[in-house]
Amino acid sequence: MRNFTEESLTEAAVARIAPECDPRLREVMTALLRHLHTFVRETRITPEEWFKAIAFLTECGRFCDDKRQEFILLSDTLGVSMLVDAIANPGGGDVTESTVLGPFFRENPPLIANGGDLAPGIAGRRVNVDCRVLSQDGTPIAGAQIDCWQASPEGFYDSQMGDGSAHNLRGRLTSASDGRFWFNTTLPASYPIPHDGPVGALLRAMGRHPMRPGHLHFWVQAPGHRQVITHLFVKGDEYLESDVVFGVKDSLVVDFGGADGSIHTMRYDFRLRKAA
Ligand SMILES: [Fe+2]
Repeated sequence: MRNFTEESLTEAAVARIAPECDPRLREVMTALLRHLHTFVRETRITPEEWFKAIAFLTECGRFCDDKRQEFILLSDTLGVSMLVDAIANPGGGDVTESTVLGPFFRENPPLIANGGDLAPGIAGRRVNVDCRVLSQDGTPIAGAQIDCWQASPEGFYDSQMGDGSAHNLRGRLTSASDGRFWFNTTLPASYPIPHDGPVGALLRAMGRHPMRPGHLHFWVQAPGHRQVITHLFVKGDEYLESDVVFGVKDSLVVDFGGADGSIHTMRYDFRLRKAA
């Protein structure tokens, strides 16, 4: 078959998927082809615009290395990451809601004992974090693994400081017999996502700011339970209503204390859904 037209091309592309193709890949690629073709027809994309789009994606690839993930930034800022998360983790009820993983998670963080310091050598207002990991019925979970990471009071993650090799402002803890884990850290500041690349340029072109409200990241895993990847946001932050990655949920906004100079203890109970 040849001589394709604007009308016939889409179904021809769908028909090229071979019979032996994995059924789920067929389903996803069929929908992608139809939606993508419809998008091009609807917007009457010109060849110049399409080359610009390809150059944009090429530039996203060029910006990626082991510390920078431009495609996660793109997915996050387009709201796709939160949409995928909303479908996978409908939330509600008695379990802790999830939010985006973000681009700053790193493997093999330092192990931190309960009572330890997540941000050694980092100046700024200190805060005590005192949390529990519970099953959805309220039973404490001992031995849960909690990865925690955050930005500095200046709004930078460790990978954005110095040569980026040092691990700081992050750590892995284990919950005690009563489900508790606790540590001391510095108040996480609101920060711009990395916006010196193509995603930042796209945000500026759309008249959008690159800011996220201050938050601590948590990845909580416990045997027999579904893991939760989430944040706790700083109550009162000016960017709670306009988080650039659409990640804020009311149930995840907590009190990190005021500016009275005292060291506040932020408390939160993570409730995990029992694995099916
Ligand atoms: Fe973050």
